[in-house]
Amino acid sequence: MKVVTNNIRFATIIGLFISFSLMEINHLSAQTVWLDQLDLSAATQGYGVPKKNKSVDGKVMTIKGKTFERGFGTHAESSLLILLDGKATSFTAQVGIDDEIAGHEPASEFVIYGDGKKLWSSGIMRLGDAAIPCSVPLVGIKKLELVVTDGGNGNYYDHADWADAKFETTGVDTFITYNPVASEPYILTPPPPAWPRINGASVFGARPGSPFQFLVPVTGDRPITFSATGLPPGLKIDSKTGIITGKLSKTGTFVVALTAKNAKGKAEKKLRIVCGDRIALTPPMGWNSWNCFAQEVSADKVKRAADAMVKSGLINHGWTYINIDDFWENNRDSKDQSLRGEFRDEAGNIIPNSRFVDMKSLANYVHDLGLKIGLYSSPGPWTCGGCVGSYGHEKQDAESYAKWGFDYLKYDWCSYGNVIDGLPNNDPYKVSSLSYNGGSELNTAIKPFKVMGEYLRQQPRDIIFSVCQYGMSDVWKWGDSVNGNCWRTTNDITDTWTSVKNIALDQDKSAPYAKPGNWNDPDMLVVGTVGWGNSHPSKLKPDEQYLHISLWSLFSAPLLIGCDMEKLDDFTLNLLTNDEVIAVNQDPLGKQASCMHTIGDLRIYVKELEDGSRAIGFCNFGLEIVNLAYKDFEKIGLNGMYQVRDLWRQKDIENIDTKTGQLALKIPAHGVLLYKFTSVK
Ligand code: GLA
Repeated sequence: MKVVTNNIRFATIIGLFISFSLMEINHLSAQTVWLDQLDLSAATQGYGVPKKNKSVDGKVMTIKGKTFERGFGTHAESSLLILLDGKATSFTAQVGIDDEIAGHEPASEFVIYGDGKKLWSSGIMRLGDAAIPCSVPLVGIKKLELVVTDGGNGNYYDHADWADAKFETTGVDTFITYNPVASEPYILTPPPPAWPRINGASVFGARPGSPFQFLVPVTGDRPITFSATGLPPGLKIDSKTGIITGKLSKTGTFVVALTAKNAKGKAEKKLRIVCGDRIALTPPMGWNSWNCFAQEVSADKVKRAADAMVKSGLINHGWTYINIDDFWENNRDSKDQSLRGEFRDEAGNIIPNSRFVDMKSLANYVHDLGLKIGLYSSPGPWTCGGCVGSYGHEKQDAESYAKWGFDYLKYDWCSYGNVIDGLPNNDPYKVSSLSYNGGSELNTAIKPFKVMGEYLRQQPRDIIFSVCQYGMSDVWKWGDSVNGNCWRTTNDITDTWTSVKNIALDQDKSAPYAKPGNWNDPDMLVVGTVGWGNSHPSKLKPDEQYLHISLWSLFSAPLLIGCDMEKLDDFTLNLLTNDEVIAVNQDPLGKQASCMHTIGDLRIYVKELEDGSRAIGFCNFGLEIVNLAYKDFEKIGLNGMYQVRDLWRQKDIENIDTKTGQLALKIPAHGVLLYKFTSVK
C-alpha cells in the first residue's frame, strides 16, 4: 500500500512538474500581445489623443458598419513607435477609416515600418471602405513604427482605426512604446544687446504711387532715435518710431543709410528701397489667425495679436503682417449668430460679419502700430469654412480690401472646384467640401488667380497676393504670371512631426522657382500655442521646432506665426527672435535651399546668400542621434577655407579647410545644426 501511495505521490509530482514546464514553454513560446495593452500615449497624432479600444472621438470603433472591441483609435498624421527587440513574430490588424465622420471626405494610408523599412501599406483608404486585414511577419525586427498618413488631401477628418491589432510574440507579455525625441525645451538664441541693432530685411520693394510703410526693426534699450539719409523724395522717417512713410513717384533703386541711437550706442545699416513693379522682395513675415483661432477669430483678437506683436518685441525682428484668415465674412450655415448676416449689400459689396464691424479702423489700428494687415478670401463662391467667397465679385472685393487699407490677400481655392468651365449644369454655389481635383486642367487652375491678381494690381495699394491651392498644377511654374507673391506648395500643416517632415521632404521640386517677389509657401508655422480653436502647446518637440524654423528659413518661406500671440512662452519667443536665423530667410538674393547631400536620415540643405556665404542646415530626420565627422564638402558645393558659424547659438565654431578638414557633427533626433559658411582667405 505504502509503495502504491508513494508511486501515486511520485506520479503526481512528475505530472505537476511536466505541466509547470509546459506552461513555462508556452509562456516562452507563442503569446499574444494586443496593441491596446501597450502604452499608446507615446503616439503622436494630428488631432485628439491616442485612444485605447475606441475611435479618436471616444466611440466604439466602426469601419463600414463593422464594430471592433479592441484596437487603437488615432488621427492622421499619426506615428507610434514600438520596441520589439526581435521578440515579435507577426502583427495583424484590421485597418480603416472610422464611420464616425460620416458626411466628410477623409483619406488616409496605413503604413508599417520595421527598422526603417516599409513593410506594409494599406494604400489610400476612404470612408466606407471595408476594413483591410493586415498581417506582417516581424521576425528579427527591432523597432516598429505604425504610421497613418493624410492620404494626400490634408488630414481633415482622418479618423483612423488600427482595429483588432495584436502581436504574436516569442513569449513576452508586453512591448515598450517610445518617443526618442527629447521633450525638455532649451534656449539657444542669446538675448539681444542693450545697444541698438538694426534687424530685418535689407531690401524693400514698393510700387510708385502706393502708400509706403516700412518700420526699421531695431532691438536695444528704448528710447531709440532713428534717422535715415538718402531717402528718395516723397519719403520721411519718424525719428521716434523708426517708421518710414510717404509715397514714391519715381521708379529706381535708392540706397538709404539708416541709423539707430540709444544711450548705449549707435547702429548703422544700409537699406535698398526698390521702387518698381515687384513687391515682397523678401518673404513676408508676420502672423495669421488660422492655426490658433480658426473660426473663432474676431477684430478684438486681431487687435490683441497686433498689440502682442509689439509688446513681445517681435516687431523689432522684422515681424510685420497681421493676417486675418477665414471667418471674417458671413457664413453659409454656422449656428453661431455672430457669423450670420447679409453676405453683400445691394450693390454687391462684401459685408464683414458682426465681429468685424469696421474694417477700415481695424486696418488703421494695425498700421498705427507700425504693422501691416492681411485678409483672406476664395475664388469660389464659398471659402473652405463655408463663408462667402469672391466668385463673381472679384473686382469689388479687391476694391474693398484696398479701400479698407489691407496689405495682403490669401486667396484660397476651396469651392472653386465647383466652378469648372465647360461643365454644363455645374452649380458653383452647390455645397461641397474641399475640392482638390478641379485644378488638373491648367487653364482652370490658373484662371481664378489671374482674375484676382489683375484686380489687386489695379488697386492704388501694394497688396501681397498669396495664392493658396495646396500646390496643384505645379503652381510654382505659373504663380508669378498671375501676380502671385507666394503660393502654397502643400496641404494644410498640423503641429505633428509627420506633417512637418512630409512637407519638408517635398520642397525640393519647387525650390528653383523661388526668387525676390515669388516665394514657395510650405504653410504657416506650428510653434507656440496653436490648435485651430482648441488651443494647446504645439505637439512638436523642441528639436523638431528648431528644425521647423531652420528649414522654413532655408526654404525662403513666408514666415507666418500661427500661435496665440498672447500666450508666447520664453522658448517660442526665443525661437522667433534669432536675427541671424531670420537673416537667412530674409536674404536679398532670394534663393531657396535644396538638399544637396543625404546620408541615411541626415539631409544637408544649402542656401546661397547674397554676400557669397552659404547657410547650411544639417537636418536629422531620423530617430537616432547623428554623430559624424563630416568631410564630403565638395558634395555641398564648398571648396577652400571657411569660417563656420553656428547661427542658433550666434557663435563662431572654427575655420575649416574643406580639402583636409573634418567637421564634427552631433545632431539630436529630429534636430538640426544651422551653420553659416563664409569664405576666408
Ligand atoms: C484651407 C487653407 C487653410 C485655411 C483654411 C480656412 O484649409 O489651406 O490655410 O485658410 O482653409 O478655412
